[in-house]
Amino acid sequence: MAAAKAEESQLIADIEAKRESGDLSFAKLRTDDRVLARITDGIYRQPSSALRELISNAYDADASRVIIQTDAPRFSQISIRDDGNGMDVATLARLIHHIGGSSKRRWEGAGNTTNTKDPTRSPAGRRLIGKIGIGLFSVAQLTRHFQIVTKVAGSNFRLVAEVILRTYEEDSIQGAHSLSAEEPPSQGDDKVKKEGGESEKADKEEEFEKIESGEVAIRSVPADDLEAHGTEIILMDLRPLTISLLRSGDVWKAVSGKSVDDSGIMLMQPTPRFHIGILDDREEGYALPPRLPWENSDPPEERFSKLFQAVVEEVGVSSSDPKLELLFDNYFKAIWSLSLAAPVDYLEDHPFDLDDNSEPDIFELHPFVPGQAKALKLKLGESIRKRLELKSPERGANTSEFRVFVDDIELKRPIRFSKFPASRHAMKTPLVFVGKADPDLSAISEEERGGDLEFEAYFLWSPKVVPRENTGLLVRIGDASGTLFDETFAKYQVSEITRLRQITAEVFVTKGLDPALNIDRESFNASHPHYQYLSLWVHRSLRQIVNTLKYLADQLAQEAKSQVSEAKSESLKKIVRNAVKNASGESIKEAVEVVIATDDVKQLAVARKEGKLALNPKKVFASANFKKGRRQERENETFRAQIVAVAQVLEAYGLLAGLTYEQQEEVLKSIVAIFRIDGK
Ligand SMILES: Nc1ncnc2c1ncn2[C@@H]1O[C@H](COP(=O)(O)OP(=O)(O)O)[C@@H](O)[C@H]1O
Ligand SMILES: [Mg+2]
Repeated sequence: MAAAKAEESQLIADIEAKRESGDLSFAKLRTDDRVLARITDGIYRQPSSALRELISNAYDADASRVIIQTDAPRFSQISIRDDGNGMDVATLARLIHHIGGSSKRRWEGAGNTTNTKDPTRSPAGRRLIGKIGIGLFSVAQLTRHFQIVTKVAGSNFRLVAEVILRTYEEDSIQGAHSLSAEEPPSQGDDKVKKEGGESEKADKEEEFEKIESGEVAIRSVPADDLEAHGTEIILMDLRPLTISLLRSGDVWKAVSGKSVDDSGIMLMQPTPRFHIGILDDREEGYALPPRLPWENSDPPEERFSKLFQAVVEEVGVSSSDPKLELLFDNYFKAIWSLSLAAPVDYLEDHPFDLDDNSEPDIFELHPFVPGQAKALKLKLGESIRKRLELKSPERGANTSEFRVFVDDIELKRPIRFSKFPASRHAMKTPLVFVGKADPDLSAISEEERGGDLEFEAYFLWSPKVVPRENTGLLVRIGDASGTLFDETFAKYQVSEITRLRQITAEVFVTKGLDPALNIDRESFNASHPHYQYLSLWVHRSLRQIVNTLKYLADQLAQEAKSQVSEAKSESLKKIVRNAVKNASGESIKEAVEVVIATDDVKQLAVARKEGKLALNPKKVFASANFKKGRRQERENETFRAQIVAVAQVLEAYGLLAGLTYEQQEEVLKSIVAIFRIDGK
């Protein structure tokens, strides 16, 4: 340990001593355990995972803007530039010597990477995403050669660190593409390039060789703008496999019918609706021009909205249920994943900023109180956030803005709470359910739970979720996430497939849960108490939501039925009126009033004296076989009204007048029996 510390101090001194001359300082990457090997062991599966980590680092460094340039569709080089705090010499030296040992969340990071008052927060107060200290080296999955250019405010130089990662076999430090004093980086570049050119081998190898070590050359470059600050990571010489993936090689192969799976079955795929085109063989023009959802003249802020809108408008065009999997090439898929993962703003309002004017109806969740969710009646102009005292997203007081641009597309969280696609579903109004929790977990030992848990959440129900990939549960720690939507809702066991497919849910964890996060940040340790509580809360919420949905659907059905029965009784009245008019020749004559509501002899007599046609229902409806139940009652009522109308028509033509009361009852009883034959 002491030796390592001395080495780190030595590196710092060396960089500082060579500041004026601009000479290179050399160092070897150091990891405590073989973390670097694990990083390249395939824990980060998608190229976008590496970009996600770099965006997270910019966020942690209090940046307000991140600019990513991918050089699409060539992808010769990718750069990620932020306007964050940058790294001073000591922070850079630490990074080199402590891969797998982040200074975030430790007091030693105070002032540089962490807040002086709270090591779990950035200097400006953001909840830190980074923790383990391997994120930066996830770029190993894309390239073995990259550069870090960084500057802190107030310094008159920037630091340029050139990193070369080496595989286990290439043992010699002075190996073919190592950085050494005799070989300045520019020449090193060439060598790496040449090696990258031998792409045949790498292309075939699905498995990526494990990287075990790496070297860094650092120099100081004078900078004019004293106050400038930020970091740029430049990924050079991308691996052939990475380039092929980014160019959607696999997708186009499947489109052309040249893709065969393990069992020899041909994988066919339609041409993606949106793609960045295919380069011709000379990589100068297009073999297939791109198909983009925006115009070249559209500003970055509008492009993502257009992309989202284009997906929504696919409903009923290419599919009734659009899926990104088939709509997008790999480039657009990566853009979309990044926009979901990064702590950026929503396309429109944050769900917690919906108010009384918003399209969805709003409900409050109390998942551990039995029954339905409570309708939240917001006052004029009152937001959900204000009413329920919600704080997500917290992005630090001074640096609330965080914007990410990829190739002139500004990323926005691809979830919208307005302009829902048209639907034939009976329930047309979308619903938003909101809740929060700060459970008392003190019964679990501190060691086991690792601090407190606190979160806020919403569940959006809408008849059709577009795209399909937006259904499920997405858990954010702070405002960032490494996962996509979990369609199983943390393994909810109740079969409510239809309703669950209509729900988009996000949980914003404001305290805790990161101890439950797996190293790749893309999955959770399901046995951790924080995750256990969170999933139970989600499951109970789902139950409450489903209860509410069922109740609302029931009410809608009742309303629809009562509308029908109202219409029916209007029609009956019209029929009777016509009969009276035809029979009497007088249009103003009223139909006789019919009472079939009591078997009380006295009451029947009174009604008859008043000139009404009064009949005993027990007799008339003896064979009606009315079924019991709330839903049935409406039908029964309609039938009774029909028999009353029959009686009124008969009476209008004088057909009941000459009969005894008993005979009148018999006539109607027979008519009832005729219409209620049940075939037995
Ligand atoms: N964009 C950046 N701006 C400032 N510092 C950065 C940036 N990227 C990386 N760093 C530094 O490098 C360290 C290692 O980053 P990383 O490997 O992602 O691990 P972690 O984020 O878990 O600390 C960070 O702790 C930080 O000090
Ligand atoms: Mg990080």
